[in-house]
Amino acid sequence: MTPAPVGGQGEKNGQSRAAADDGRVRIFDTTLRDGEQAPGCTMSLDEKLAVAHQLARLRVDIIEAGFPAASDGDWTAVHEIAREVGGVYGPDICGLARANERDIERCWTAVEPAANARIHIFLATSDLHMKHKLGMTRSQVVAAAAASVSQACALGAQVEFSAEDAARSDPAFLYEVLTAALQCGATTLNVPDTVGYSTPDEYGALVAGVRANVSGIESATISAHCHDDLGLAVANSLAAARAGARQAECTINGIGERAGNAALEEFVMALHTRGQFFGLHTNIETRELARTSRLVSECTGIDVPPNKAIVGANAFAHEAGIHQDGVLKNRLTYEIMSADTVGWNGIGLVLGKHSGRHALRAKTESLGYELTDEELSHLFTRFKELADRKKLLDEGDIHGLMLQRDNGAVRELNS
Ligand code: KIV
Ligand code: ZN
Repeated sequence: MTPAPVGGQGEKNGQSRAAADDGRVRIFDTTLRDGEQAPGCTMSLDEKLAVAHQLARLRVDIIEAGFPAASDGDWTAVHEIAREVGGVYGPDICGLARANERDIERCWTAVEPAANARIHIFLATSDLHMKHKLGMTRSQVVAAAAASVSQACALGAQVEFSAEDAARSDPAFLYEVLTAALQCGATTLNVPDTVGYSTPDEYGALVAGVRANVSGIESATISAHCHDDLGLAVANSLAAARAGARQAECTINGIGERAGNAALEEFVMALHTRGQFFGLHTNIETRELARTSRLVSECTGIDVPPNKAIVGANAFAHEAGIHQDGVLKNRLTYEIMSADTVGWNGIGLVLGKHSGRHALRAKTESLGYELTDEELSHLFTRFKELADRKKLLDEGDIHGLMLQRDNGAVRELNS
């Protein structure tokens, strides 16, 4: 069977307008751009290529591979990813560009080898950014947005336009700039919460406002791009999806500028697990999530906290005795998703001082030991002593306790 294209709209560079709404939210992964530009997250070319290949296995729709005008290294990485990963059935490959001719040309030469190549142009629309950062008036911003989108479209790229700091922009002006970008050929309009200031109600209302006030919007895709400064990036992205955004910009493990971006794994699993509530879905191969998270963590050197949702080491581990007992009887008692669905293997029980006898028996059995009730009681006493000293016990510790049993405790039992 020929796989369906995961990326654009099928033809070269997906220049056709947005498909009818089927409830699918496209996943735009910016781990290699917004993620990689965060302090301490730099990756080598080989690492970026490895991550890009893995993102393709994860079936993201678009990979933002870098910011080609920023450095020769970035240009090369985007170019190589476009060549190696951007096949007809692969993801769209995107590069970031400021709204100026040089950035757009440089971006185009980098993404051009991809079957579906996208140029992502950004320009700030908040009064604060226009006055203090850009030194531009409102009419200059509208003109620059229109000119840069026209230039990129003329090159033959798909074009996404981002109104940087959209969440703090005057909504009427935001609609005006987005309308201009749309009229000049942009097919995706992004409304970033650049500084992570918005709340879910506000951000959802902003997306609804764009839908209601940008003329011709039904022929484009609205995109959400949220930062996590208040810990709301995923909640805001979900609110945007409910309000009609059909693209979400995310990073693996939520890495990114300052507090990071919306975590891809959390956004995707919220839609997956609460499908009935949202009535939306993605094309993501969820069983690749844990592996992708580990790879990004290894390449960036940024550890994933153990309690991180979906991909943290403890995300599917049940340490408390009552929880372990419940899960062993029926997983649904304390699990809303299965570890297998996100690519974790094994039963994931972490043993600690709160673990009960039932969990200890399950763990020893999974390690191949058969114990009588009496042996289990004896082992349980020593297990509790060890767990008092050591917070969490892994399989090696259990083997160690069993070895002690074989070397003496059994004699003790039999005496
Ligand atoms: O946060 C932001 O506004 C961005 C833009 C470049 C889209 O990353
Ligand atoms: Zn960003």
